[in-house]
Order: sequence, then structure tokens, then C-alpha cells
Amino acid sequence: MRISFAKPGQPRSGAVIVGVWEEAVLTPAARRLDETTDGAIMRALSAAPRFKGKKDELLPIVGPANLAVSRVVLAGLGKSDLANARLFQQLGGNLVAHLNSAGEREATIAIDVDEGVPIDQTEVAVQLAFGARLRAYRFDKYKTKQKPEEKASLDHLTVATAAPDAAKLAYEPLDKTASAVFFSRDLVSEPPNVIYPETLAAQAGTLASLGVAIEILDEKKMQKLGMNALLGVGQGSTRPPRLVVMEWHGSTAGGSDNRSSPLAFIGKGVTFDTGGISIKPAAGMGDMKWDMAGSAVVIGLMQLLAARKAKVNAVGVVGLVENMPSGTAQRPGDIVTSMSGQTIEILNTDAEGRLVLADALWYCQDRYKPRLMIDLATLTGAVVVALGHHRAGLFSNNDELAGRLIAAGEAVGEEVWRLPLDESYDREIDSDAADVKNIGSGRAGGSILGAQFLQRFVNDVPWAHLDIAGMAWSNKDSATVPKGATAFGVRLLDQFVAQYYERE
Ligand code: BES
Ligand code: MN
Ligand code: ZN
Repeated sequence: MRISFAKPGQPRSGAVIVGVWEEAVLTPAARRLDETTDGAIMRALSAAPRFKGKKDELLPIVGPANLAVSRVVLAGLGKSDLANARLFQQLGGNLVAHLNSAGEREATIAIDVDEGVPIDQTEVAVQLAFGARLRAYRFDKYKTKQKPEEKASLDHLTVATAAPDAAKLAYEPLDKTASAVFFSRDLVSEPPNVIYPETLAAQAGTLASLGVAIEILDEKKMQKLGMNALLGVGQGSTRPPRLVVMEWHGSTAGGSDNRSSPLAFIGKGVTFDTGGISIKPAAGMGDMKWDMAGSAVVIGLMQLLAARKAKVNAVGVVGLVENMPSGTAQRPGDIVTSMSGQTIEILNTDAEGRLVLADALWYCQDRYKPRLMIDLATLTGAVVVALGHHRAGLFSNNDELAGRLIAAGEAVGEEVWRLPLDESYDREIDSDAADVKNIGSGRAGGSILGAQFLQRFVNDVPWAHLDIAGMAWSNKDSATVPKGATAFGVRLLDQFVAQYYERE
């Protein structure tokens, strides 16, 4: 789908979308359209008394006789004093879905806002375009027999705005955001026979073209470093593990050769999680192809920071393994020595993400002395029980960091909810045979115990853990995220970086 910005004018084909505030108050462009069509808009409104102009309401009407357009869609905007970026982003997304299901090929969004509305005209246009692009994402490369009506019909969207050049300029960074989100969604959507540690590492390697320094650690290197927690997870698979390190040096603070301490993002990249010897039930196991979502979000984020030349130093570390049962797989009962030197008793091979992250986190803080560390992982089913598919779980040893992540999440609509860490939970993962065990004794507090386990591999650096198990994939469409891989976290962390760390 092509998106362009143009000055308002009378469209000659396709659909035209105009905005209506709550209580059926027309926006300026809707008023003008009503005049040129001899009152067709007001007539349609009185014929549809249930359309109130509330947020998310859409009222399609046939193209008025004296216009060369296929249809006019009235879009509810809600209360004008509540208008904000998210409103128009979601509307842009909803419109794409609506127009595609109507089989429309081209459309012009002509939504302008009056004086006094708390968002300016250019921002309205830009957010409509951004939402539209995000929703237009599809992953259909493996569908060879799609009928025309199963494909997206909308191929050109024009957003009418008084200052198209300004809108185009303001849209550029959001266009880059969408591209990074799509890159991340693609990686998560790819099946596990295509994306496995080596191929996912190669995908991360493509960031080199944007100026990201890439290092790929193979098994030998990891053995040398003593990463036996990560290696143990991968040892049942014929596909060897990888650890990828991505460095972006964008800070202008430390001069040209700046190595000032980076923000660090660490991702769980289990390219397929069978559970290992503690094997998962067959039903739904296919979902575990997205157990690498944390790593895909880190890769997408690093891509975005580099693409938009973020003025910050950042490092991404992703631990990539496949968790398989086999004669070489690790057993429940095994004890491994992690890179930190701490020994881990593995009592359930399905609690593998924390083993991968234990070494990735340790390596990251040991090598980079980062300013802060944030890990992302589809770590526990328990977080889905606790928070459902609306918010990711947030754990942190630092209140300021937690507050910033909550605020950034709210700003972009990727919300998180903080859960506790506490000494008393930590006692539950003390092992009889080693320093720590990888599960508790029952199911109680599963997500917290996972986070406590990670914290054992974090020293005094500010750290946060995002358990995205309920957010990485969606079974239903939402305004700006079609069902499937969501890339939850890319926008949140990009906002977090931009809002708090680029104003030095
Ligand atoms: N990858 C899973 C967690 C998961 C479950 C993600 C459902 C998304 C949806 C993780 O590796 C896992 O298996 N966790 C176990 C931990 C348990 C053995 C302590 C779980 O949640 O059951
Ligand atoms: Mn598992
Ligand atoms: Zn897993």
C-alpha cells in the first residue's frame, strides 16, 4: 500500500473519509462535503441515528450522485477535547481494515480539525498515515493460492492535509518505526525451520549495513566464556546456538570515538521451544515458534535506532538456541555452571529462557558495564494468566527505570504492569544441590520466580525485565496490529530511548 500526502481537493475516485465529532458535529472538510453534495452528509446522519460520531464508529454511505467517488465514509472521532495522537493512529488502522474488507482500491482521508482541538493538523495527518501503515502489515509469503478477495485491495491511500510537505517530513521517522516493527514481525512470523539460531543471527547481521557493529559468537566462543547455562539449552538440537551482539554508537556526548556506557537490551531467542525432555503437550506447541520474540524485538529496536541515527549508545545482545529433546539434550537434574560462576540445578528443561538470559545478561554487564539493562522474553505462561493479552509484566530493581518504562509504554499504547521482586520469592529458588534452581516447587508466582532467577545474574546495574509472553503474538486484530506477530516492545523501547536518553 502506497501512502501519500496531498493538499485538500475534490477526489475523483475511490473512497473519501471525513471526520465527525461526537454528537454528530461535522469537521470542516465534512461540512464542505455536505455543501458540495447538497446536504448528503447530514441526510445520511439523520438516516443513521445510531451513528453518534463516537470513537471507532464508521458509517459508510454510497458516493453522492454529483461526486465521482465510490463512497464516503464518516469516521467518528469522539469528543474533540480528548483528541490525541493515538486516536488518529487507531483510526488510520481501522480505516485500512474497513476499506480492505469493502474491496476499495484507493482512498483519500480528508480529516481536518478545527482551532482549539488539542492536536495540530499536520500531526493528525501523520498519525493517520502511521496507523494505516501499521495495520496494513501482512505476512503472506507462504500463501501461494490466495484468491483476489483474500488479498489486500487498498493500494493507494492519500492523506489530505493543508501542508503536505510538512506532513511528509514529520512522517519520515514514523515510517522508519513501522519498517522496524515490520522487520521484527517478519522474524517472529517466520517458521522455525526457516528461522533458527544461525539464520536469525544472519538476519541480525544485516544491521551492519546501517552502521551497527555485529559480533556473532558461536559455540566454541561461548564455551570459552563458560556460557554453560545457554549452551545446555541448545545441546539437544542439531542446530547450534549463537549469541549476537549489536552495537550502535550514536551518542554525540563523548566525542568521535565515543564508547560512553551504553543502554543495553537483551532478548530471549528460543527459535523453537519444545520444552526439551520436560516436553510440552502437543496441542498448541506450534505457538512456540515465537519464543524468539524477545530477540526479534531487540533486533528490530537496534535496526530502528540505527536507521533514525539515534543520539545514544546502545547495545543489543540476543541469545539464540533451539530447545529440543534428544539423546544429547540436557536432563532434569543436570547441574550447569553459568558464566557468572553460579551453579544452576535444572529441574525442568522447559524453564529454558531464564537459562539463556542468565548468560546473556552476565556477558552484557561484564563486557559493557551498561548504564542500564532491559531484557525482553516470552518467559512464562504465568504472566498470561496474570495480565492476559493487554499488558506485559514488568520487573525491576530500580523505581526510576520502572517509571520510565511505564510512561513510555503508555505514550505509544504498549502498556506494562509492574510486578514485585522480593527476598521471600528469591528463597523459593534456592537449590538443595546447587546455588540456584530453575523452577520453584509449584506453580505459584511463576512469573515472579522467573524474574527472581534472572536477578541472580544482575549486579547493581539498573535492570528491568519485560515478560512479553502474552503480548508477542495476537489471535485477533486490533486497530494498528493485525493478528499474528505484534513486535510489542519495539515502539515502547524506542519511545523510552527518545524520551529519556537522547536529550543529553
Ligand atoms: N516459552 C515458554 C513460556 C510461554 C508460554 C510463552 C506460553 C508464551 C506462551 C517458557 O519457556 C516456558 O515453557 N515456561 C514455563 C516455565 C515453567 C516450566 C516454570 C511455563 O510457563 O510453563
Ligand atoms: Mn519453555
Ligand atoms: Zn520458552
